[in-house]
Amino acid sequence: MNYIVTIDGPSSSGKSTLAKRLAKELSISHIDSGSIYRAVTLYAIENNFIVNQKLMLEKLVSSLSYSDISLKENGNGIFKMFINDQDVEDKIRGLKVSKYVSEVAKHEEIRNYVLKIQREISKNKSIVMDGRDIGSFVFPDAHVKFYIDASLKTRSERRYNQLKDKEKGISILEVENDLLIRDNTDKTRKKSPLVIPENSLIINNVNRTIDDVLNQMLKYTKDIIDKKVS
Ligand code: DC
Repeated sequence: MNYIVTIDGPSSSGKSTLAKRLAKELSISHIDSGSIYRAVTLYAIENNFIVNQKLMLEKLVSSLSYSDISLKENGNGIFKMFINDQDVEDKIRGLKVSKYVSEVAKHEEIRNYVLKIQREISKNKSIVMDGRDIGSFVFPDAHVKFYIDASLKTRSERRYNQLKDKEKGISILEVENDLLIRDNTDKTRKKSPLVIPENSLIINNVNRTIDDVLNQMLKYTKDIIDKKVS
């Protein structure tokens, strides 16, 4: 039986790390849906569709129909983001993309474009997908749903530690500010905002080790899937 596990939560709550590990433990694929929005944003920046901090939405959408933004599997269930055959996995994690991604992701046209990629890639396989609207909107009938949360302080520290070597001179305050703005945009946008999905298990990921949270998620998932199969 193929099944879908969704993991939603705010930026840097730890959901992608947990999603990756959970998928590995379950021997199924992991899709980080934020990476698709990040690739669309990188594409918009590199093709000058963001001018004076303003997104040229119509031009971007029309240009996307001539481009190939896709996730490609490396054979081990790990997917990487490509734009027109170029591996952009590293580029999409930078601060510049982070700064604009929520603004790009709030538009219905962009969400519909990403939705097609999300649904297509999940056909005929079991997956763990993490993001902001996966259990609520993309896969409302998913078999297992999680919502991972953590305090702003914990999330800022986590993100700062990920970025500090790559982005020289970055401050923790800058990171915290970026997270606050993104949280607000993600939670208040009209189209599929970040919410706690119905029937999801809420996990507060503060002062707990990854292994501890992972074991809880693994047990919860296996209990549900085993019941469905038997
Ligand atoms: O998880 P992340 O920080 O890589 O996500 C980047 C942005 O993409 C996030 O700020 C909002 C957007 N996003 C979204 O709107 N819906 C999703 N399912 C995943 C990400």
